Amino acid sequence: MRKPFIAGNWKMNMDRSSAVELAAGVKAGVSDVLGADVAICPPSVYLSSVAEVVAGSNVALGAQNCYHEDKGAFTGEISPGMLKDVGCTYVILGHSERRHVMGETDELISKKVRKVLGGGLEVILCVGELLEQREAGETEAVVRVQVERGLIGLSEEDMRNVAIAYEPVWAIGTGVNATPAQAQEAHSYIRGLIGSMFGEATAEAVRIQYGGSVKPSNVKDLMSNPDVDGGLIGGASLEAGSFVEIVKSGISAKS
Ligand code: PGA
Repeated sequence: MRKPFIAGNWKMNMDRSSAVELAAGVKAGVSDVLGADVAICPPSVYLSSVAEVVAGSNVALGAQNCYHEDKGAFTGEISPGMLKDVGCTYVILGHSERRHVMGETDELISKKVRKVLGGGLEVILCVGELLEQREAGETEAVVRVQVERGLIGLSEEDMRNVAIAYEPVWAIGTGVNATPAQAQEAHSYIRGLIGSMFGEATAEAVRIQYGGSVKPSNVKDLMSNPDVDGGLIGGASLEAGSFVEIVKSGISAKS
């Protein structure tokens, strides 16, 4: 049985005081939660402040991106070691906004994946198709390339520290979530791919989050599917009450 995994992706939102307040609200709200792994991913400048708030709690810290080198002349970049140093457990990589707004390629993302795992952090690798790709019937082909290239060179052991987030781009921030059936279909396809790459045991163990307009009102239906193991939550993670409700409804969907 896979433990549900729910992470909040705050993107480029909050200021220092609201970040600390939101983290404190999440920490209080999930203090009695045992049935899921919970993480919050603030903007990197607020990681240290948020780390102080969640230290010793059942809320883990994640970053939204990082670079694939340890140190050096990479102005503006942050290394996995630095993220670990400030208390991160997870790094989101390959988010659609990094792919489509910042132009990140699968090749770059895969370098980051390997560096982050080598640095003792866990990866949340985001994959997902654009609307026109879905409409052209290319969803599986697109996701396949992103999964295969993103995870290239990893061992079965590495995969213990990888979660996949299936995030159809048309569902991100739009209010239009994938239907539970669409999510299940994509998740089951991804699990099959992982199986062909790393074997059945790894496929059974890997957690696949759904992301894209997850709300307290739809999380239960989404997570009731056998291959939907959690969520990567954007907008609805910016308010402690709604994020905590998502965590609790998600757990109840699995019990
Ligand atoms: P959303 O974002 O929940 O606001 O749709 C999800 C994400 O981009 O991770």
